[in-house]
Amino acid sequence: MNDKNIVSNNSGNQTFEEIVDARVSRRGFLGGGLATAAALSLSGMSALLKAVPASAKTNGRPLLGFQGIDVSTADTVVVPQGYTARVLIAWGDPVSDGPEFKQDASNTAAEQALQWGEHNDGLVYFPISGPTHGLLVQNNEYDDEGLLFPDGIASWTAEKTNKSLNAHGVSIIEITKQGGNGQKGGEWRVVRPYSFGRRITGNTPIAIGGPAAGDDRLKTSADPTGKLVLGTLNNCAMGFTPWGTYLACEENFNGYFFRTTAAPDPRSALEKRYGISPFNSGFRWYTTHPRFNADVERNEPNRFGWVVEIDPFNPQSMPVKRTALGRIKHEGAWVEEGRDGRIVVYTGDDERNEYIYRYVSNLPWRKALRQGINPLDDGILYVAKFHDSGFGEWLPLTPSNPALAGWTLNDILINTRGAADAAGATMMDRPEWIATFPKALTAIATLTNNNRPGTNPPSVNNPNGSTTAGSARPPVDAINPRVNNVYGHIITWSYDKDWTEPDFEWKIYVLCGDPAVPAHGSDIDGDKFGSPDGIYVAPSGRLWIQTDVSTSTINTGDYAGFDNNQMPCSDPSTGEIRRFLHGPKQCEITGVQVTPDERTMFVGIQHPGETPDDSPANPANPKLFAHGPTGTPADVRARPAS
Ligand code: FEO
Ligand code: CA
Ligand code: CA
Repeated sequence: MNDKNIVSNNSGNQTFEEIVDARVSRRGFLGGGLATAAALSLSGMSALLKAVPASAKTNGRPLLGFQGIDVSTADTVVVPQGYTARVLIAWGDPVSDGPEFKQDASNTAAEQALQWGEHNDGLVYFPISGPTHGLLVQNNEYDDEGLLFPDGIASWTAEKTNKSLNAHGVSIIEITKQGGNGQKGGEWRVVRPYSFGRRITGNTPIAIGGPAAGDDRLKTSADPTGKLVLGTLNNCAMGFTPWGTYLACEENFNGYFFRTTAAPDPRSALEKRYGISPFNSGFRWYTTHPRFNADVERNEPNRFGWVVEIDPFNPQSMPVKRTALGRIKHEGAWVEEGRDGRIVVYTGDDERNEYIYRYVSNLPWRKALRQGINPLDDGILYVAKFHDSGFGEWLPLTPSNPALAGWTLNDILINTRGAADAAGATMMDRPEWIATFPKALTAIATLTNNNRPGTNPPSVNNPNGSTTAGSARPPVDAINPRVNNVYGHIITWSYDKDWTEPDFEWKIYVLCGDPAVPAHGSDIDGDKFGSPDGIYVAPSGRLWIQTDVSTSTINTGDYAGFDNNQMPCSDPSTGEIRRFLHGPKQCEITGVQVTPDERTMFVGIQHPGETPDDSPANPANPKLFAHGPTGTPADVRARPAS
């Protein structure tokens, strides 16, 4: 670590380094009982997804029973001997018996609306018949418009905007495993036709639910009610509920909206705090669809940045944006169940120096549903304060919090970032996924990377919510101990008796980097990796980690020798980390879940072949940087896949 001269806590007896050392002593934090980690009093869909059938128990064998793989720059998915990686579905494949993918990308917008979206991210397997038959639901975070059309971004039209919108959202398919002997072998295939096969896109009508529904700030010329929005966008990680629904999470929604900033800057503090600017990620939707021109439709961006609940088993159901969970750049929404049946939802805000949140429902979820109340509409949102002492607390984001005097509940839910600023939350090194070890009452979160230096004295997110998104450069603290955290780290927090407790004890699980290079300051016990993003605890307790080293950085500079993005596995009882999978060139690994028997793992391969500078791909040479997950010339275009 390169923080030797920094002492941020002058008030206590422990030095900063002692605190960090103590916080890093993770090994054995979960003891030996992990094989039965999910043997809890869970019920409903949650139990179905988290239960450990006898066949999945480790029976005394080590959790990491595979031979770790070397780093790889191969343009294919690499897994250890004895394992097989196959493409189940790729961008453009029909979700039912709809139109086939056209290799020249000439499928229309209407056809794309019936096909698997592009750039798949978080996913959930909903079992129908345990480990051999279920629904696979996956987010389609964004797209590469250079690959999406035969001529890329040239001659932009409304049809192109609509195809791009339809490549976003969520995809639902039915899958079955056929062949094999139950224990080994067999192959998954998509069931076609399938009446539940469904796309939810950037054009799908979605209700706005919860306290902020109908608020003036959510009303537009197309929707004077403030209760109905078209589409969900930039769905990154995900979650699922005990009552069998899927949660899609809107992350970097700001990039789709255009807002001029000719001097004097006309943007509101709210727009600045969420990064609405002309310097968006290059999407041209605003040129054909006025709702994406925030000069014209100022409130449309306020209708994004929410968690969206989808019932995958009811194709006629309208998805709902659940406003009680707050408006941030939601990475995911991971649900746990308290002892009394209240649900807890963890959600991180992925931007540098943003926060980690927790929502707790007011009622046990079964009781709420019996009363006709959605448990995600009625509860309290909290934001995390990580004290340097190793303890932390959840700060309530409610009008009764003295720090939020003068705020209404809807002020808080629509400008959640500003409310968290005022409440005094801890700025984090880009919170990504959050998962849980159910029996250990421990949550685990990835902090992908962050660069804290840059101003002197350091700057922080102003308590009055006036900070432009991502602009602060706070000093390090015990939970974010690196000045220049290029490799990221992983943290845990634990409770004594219940997920709903107001405070917790936190630790650093691992500081990423190459443990063989002292300058990296990594304490990995095992294989090097950096920029952790996806994280998932399998029923056996295996901890899966997915990396998202940005395409501009893959295998260069600080990441030279790390090769393509990868997926290591960790045994939380020992802390060992062993590399299991590498993706093809230029991809990010994101989206992971196992079947209840842990014989199949679904893994997302996102943006293979992306250009190093993140600009749209060259349609004249659509495999310039990668072939895609198959690693074969079969596809003319690099296609994200699972
Ligand atoms: Fe979409 Fe934070 O990754
Ligand atoms: Ca992510
Ligand atoms: Ca990512």
